[in-house]
Order: sequence, then structure tokens, then C-alpha cells
Amino acid sequence: MVAMIYFGCDYYPEQWRQWLEEGEARWKTDAQLMREAGMNVVRLAEFAWGLLEPEPDHFDFTWLDRAIDVLHHHDLKVVLCTPTPTPPPWLLAEHPDIAQVTASGRRQGPGTRREGCANHPIYRERSRIISQEMVRYYADHPAVIGWQTDNEFGCHDSAYCYCRHCERAFRTWLAARYGSLEALNQAWGTAFWGEVYADWDLIPLPSLSAAERNPSHLLDFRRFGSDTWRDFHNMEIEILRRHCPHHFITHNLMGFFMDLDYYDLCQELDFVSWDNYHYHGATPATIAATHDHMWGILQRNFWVMEQQVGQINWSAYNPMPAPGFVRLKTYQALAHGADGIVYFRWRQALAGSEQYHSGLLDHAGRKTAGYAEAQQIGSELARLAPVLEATQPQAEIAILLDYDSRWALEIQPHTTCLRANVDATYTVVNPATLVDPDATGSWQYMIGRAWQMWPFAAPYVALWERNIPVAIVAPESDLSRYKVVCAPFLNLLRPAVVEALRGYVHGGGTLILGPRAGLKDQHNKLFPMPQPGPLSELTSASVRFFDVLEPNRTHRLVWPHASDLRATEIGLWAEVLDANGAEVLATYEQGWYAGEAAITRHRAVLDGARGQTIYLGCMGGPQLYHRLFDLLLGDAGVEPILAAPAGVEVMARVARDGRRVVFLLNHAQREFYVTLPHEITDLLTGLQHGRRLSIAAGQVIIYEDQAAAAPATPT
Ligand code: GAL
Repeated sequence: MVAMIYFGCDYYPEQWRQWLEEGEARWKTDAQLMREAGMNVVRLAEFAWGLLEPEPDHFDFTWLDRAIDVLHHHDLKVVLCTPTPTPPPWLLAEHPDIAQVTASGRRQGPGTRREGCANHPIYRERSRIISQEMVRYYADHPAVIGWQTDNEFGCHDSAYCYCRHCERAFRTWLAARYGSLEALNQAWGTAFWGEVYADWDLIPLPSLSAAERNPSHLLDFRRFGSDTWRDFHNMEIEILRRHCPHHFITHNLMGFFMDLDYYDLCQELDFVSWDNYHYHGATPATIAATHDHMWGILQRNFWVMEQQVGQINWSAYNPMPAPGFVRLKTYQALAHGADGIVYFRWRQALAGSEQYHSGLLDHAGRKTAGYAEAQQIGSELARLAPVLEATQPQAEIAILLDYDSRWALEIQPHTTCLRANVDATYTVVNPATLVDPDATGSWQYMIGRAWQMWPFAAPYVALWERNIPVAIVAPESDLSRYKVVCAPFLNLLRPAVVEALRGYVHGGGTLILGPRAGLKDQHNKLFPMPQPGPLSELTSASVRFFDVLEPNRTHRLVWPHASDLRATEIGLWAEVLDANGAEVLATYEQGWYAGEAAITRHRAVLDGARGQTIYLGCMGGPQLYHRLFDLLLGDAGVEPILAAPAGVEVMARVARDGRRVVFLLNHAQREFYVTLPHEITDLLTGLQHGRRLSIAAGQVIIYEDQAAAAPATPT
């Protein structure tokens, strides 16, 4: 945890030097305006390789020195970046084959960014050289406090490459993983379609092909692509650690991005960062979930390294955010554990492909509404930052996010509704748009690029609507600190995950398994036993068969023993369960499997501790999970931070001694009243409020109190 809140912008001094007649003289004006907005940090140079090494082995840091000096003179700290996402024109001209090859065999054209293949020895070596030169050069600069490695690994579909270097590296990776061809053939089940491999050199890259490829082959290629960038990343981190042991190292991630295993990629970082953009359809809940996912990667506070300040240029429609957007999004990030907020970008670009992207200043250099909001936040942070010191979010419920399972489901979605490339269709057909269009309109929280997070959306949104903090973590994490663990999509089970879940339930935990759980082994093959495979010991129930519901077909569940007899709609996926002695919580209402079990609970007294496992065999919207949480959370002892009307998000950061900073964020277009447990002083305004608190549309109120129960010690 850093001891202060860093607050600043992403700045490209090299561009303004070229684009404006006044040239470098502009830097001083910019730095003054940054200070006037209360900023204390600037991120620089992630795309500047071509300017820092204009010819091979000829380095020019003079312009960057001058820019950093101006910033330093204005008391602005600097986060520098290794500029490796943009190999310079001379490198691509000399070695055109450092550019990646797509699955269809086409080599990417030069002249943009992210074209480099991490397995190409020359791209890797030149990346090492520029990183090392730069890192050594700035190791002792008093303005530099830390580094961002590269920029958004995997962006622009660059996680996987199909060139000959990758082909060789993939075979080497497989040989190291399996040891023998016999083991590989066994793991992949290559007897199917007679694919048995008798030589490592016969194993192809999974490029575009006539028919579907072996899912085990595809899963290993995903793992290999992810490991490739992890190794490239660790190469840069090793250089940074060697030369700048006193600087922090971070990387800017892309939220629920699927192509790289972020747990692996980020293992060696001090903290993660992410880039918070509101693509069409993003909602307060999906952004909250993304913050929690970012926190959960290292279970540590994080930075937002690029915070949107106005229109973006790459979404479906690029609407202009309403007034108050920047402030609300900034405080939402801080509430979920951000210790740094950096706005993208300082000024709207005059040239290049992102001319339509807003900045804090517009293209003419005028202050935008975003600047005004940033300035307000800057002055508020002067008071708030010390209060946030050594605090972090704290959750009693975890949702498990597992990359192998996400990949397995993407490789075989088994319904076109869950395919990544039918984004628009999915908006129409996802289960939450079909079901639960209840009074609070919670289905709205599921649209947009929901396919990237569909398995989490329903349980997450239900908890978010209840103002119950959630940690989104890896299945192998220490789960014992959570009262409830929800695994909404654990399709693939590695032996270590089975052990972790068994240990958790044996220790007295409440585990909720979602549909498609435990169907696949670690190689992406079906288990030769009923689903949920090795977890059947915990569920007692097992899946007899599953039905896939077409987009316009919904189904309903009834809850025979619940006090609330209303039916709950579900969509897309329906598994019929054999209870095998487990308690049946819900059954299907209609059709030829009416009356069959859809949700079961198995309570087991194990080693003296009482754990329970709920198996949920269907997909639905937040209302489905609300029903389940109504049944479970009281007994599990999980309380909301505060009851508040729908639209008002409540989140808290907690210190070791239980001191708590509570954020109320009104995402709605109207005023609400919230009943507080006690009188408060709003830390942003200094105003005292009674227990009945009015919160205006788009407003934020922050106060301090003591957590009701002594919190578990935050890590
Ligand atoms: C990010 C990227 C930035 C810029 C921005 C535009 O993904 O890191 O360099 O392209 O998007 O929204």
C-alpha cells in the first residue's frame, strides 16, 4: 500500500513538442495547469521507443530529460514506461518478421503498436536493450518514482501469434510440460480423429482450420500464449529490479480481458494498475466488478493508470459522459481500493489515430469539463488522502475467477449466445436481459461486453445491489477468510482447486457452485464421472443431463420450501440434477422436466465443522442470486455495509484497527435519502449530517466510522 494517493495524468511531451509552434515551451504551461488541478504524478513514454532510440543503438534521452526536468521543477513525480509496445520503424524494416502472424497466416503490417512477437529473438533482444538503457539512465532521477512495464499486454488481439518462432516455442513448451509424447497424447486424447503425434515437430499451431480443433490443444495454446507474455514481462521486471530496486513496478491491465492469465502475468509486480474506460454498455456495477477483480489479482490496492475523462474513440457509439462522470468514477475507484488515479489523456491529440479521444484539455488547449472535475477532486484529495492511508477494501464473500475455466468455456461455449464474437446478439439474448427486468431494472447491469464477465455478472450484481463487498480471487487463494465462496463457472478443475474447495467446505465454509462446474479435467477433457466430477463429494447431487435454451426460450424455477413462493426466471442453461440425498432448494416449473431439481444444498458435518455446498444448475440474472442470498447470507453472518436505495453504491475501505472510510456514490439521475446508523461528517465538504441523509444525483459522500464487527485483519 502506498502512503499517499497519487493523482495525475498520462502525458506525451514528445507529441506537443512536434505539434505546436511554441514547441517545448508549452511543457511549462502544461505543468502549471497540472499543478493547478492538484496533480502530483505524470506517466510518460510508453510509446516513445522510436524517439528514444531513433537509430539502432543510438539513444537520445535529451528531450525526455528536458520534459522530466520541467515536471520535476513543478513538483510532479514521474512514472516512466518501458516503451516496448511500439517497435520503431527501423527495427520493423530490418526485421519485418518480428511482426506477429494471425491465426489466418497473415503477417501484421508495421507502423502502429503491439505488432511485436514476444517469441521472436530479435524483438525480445531489442526490447531488453531499450529497457535496460532507459532503466539505467533514469534509475537515480529524483522525479522518477516507479515504472509501468510496456502497455496493455495482449491489446489489439496480440496475445497469440502463429509465426514460426511461436511454433518452435510452443513445441518446446509442450515438451517441458508433458515430458513425453505419450503423456501429451494421453492428456489431449489424440485418438479422437486419429491425431496421435509421433514427433514433437508434427504438432501444429492451432491456426484456422477446416474443422474445430481439439479443445485440449487449444487450451494449451492459450496457456502457452499467456506464459509467453509472462516471460517477456518478467524479463523487463528483472531489469527494473536490478537497476531500480527503490522504484515500484506496475503494469496497466484491461479489466476482464480474457487472453492472458493476469494472476501469472502480475505475480512479480508491486501492484497492478488498470485502464478504466466506459465502453458502450459499461455500468456502475460492471466497473465496480472490474475494480474488485483488479484488487483480487494480488489482493492488494491498485492504481487506475488510465481513467477516461470524456469521450473515447473506440466504442460502438462514443457518447459524451454527463457532467459529474469523472468525479463519480474517480471516487468509485478510490472506494474499491485505488491508491493512484491517472487521467488519460492530458490533452486531445492533434495527430494520430486517437484524434477523437478526449483529454483534460481539448485539442485547442481549452480546459474541458473533465479538467474542472479533476481540479475539484485534486483539492478534495488534499484532505481525503491522509484518511485513506493504510486502508483497503475488505470482503466476506469471494467470487472465484479462474482463467482455465474461462478459456475452456470460450473454446466450447456450446451455445452461440456465449460466443465472444456475437457481442451484439448477446446483448439481446443474455439471460439477464431475458429475465428479471424487475423494478430496479437490474438487468441493465448486464448489457454491453457482458460476454467477458457473464459468469460473474449475476452473482456480482446481486451482491453489489445489496452493498456487500466482494473479492474476486483465484481459486487457489486462501479462502478460509471468506464466509461464502461463489464459484459461478468453475468448468475445469485442476487437482489443487479440488483440494482448496474441499478444505474450504471442510473448514465450515459455504460454497456456491454454478452451472457447468466440474465438467472438465485439467486437460479440458470430460471427467469419466458425473458432473461436478471430483466435487460430487461436496455436492452429493450430480447432473443427470443439461438443456441449452434458445434465446427466446426462458424457464422458471419454483422454490418449494421457501417462504417467498414467487417463481424465478432463468435462461440459456438448465441442468437437471439428481439430488442423491441433498436438499432440493429449487425445481423446474414447466415442460417435460418439471419438478426436477435445479438447485441443491448439501450440508455435511465434516471433521467436526459444518460446511455446505450449494449446486446451482442454471443461469439467470441477479434475481436468481438474490433468492439464493436471501436464503444463505443471514445464516452465514454476511451483512451489507449499509442499506441504501438501488442506484446508491456503498463501499468501504478499512484500516487494521477497524477504522472505516465509507463511500456513498449516487449513480442515479435523482436524489435519494439514506438512513445512517449515526450522524456523520462528510469528509469532502466538512459538513455535518444527521441520520437521514440526502444524496443528490451523481453525488459522493464520504465519512469515517468504526466497523461494526472487528474486521478480519486485512492483508
Ligand atoms: C488504452 C491504451 C491507450 C489509449 C487508450 C484510448 O487501451 O492504453 O494508449 O489507446 O486506450 O482509450
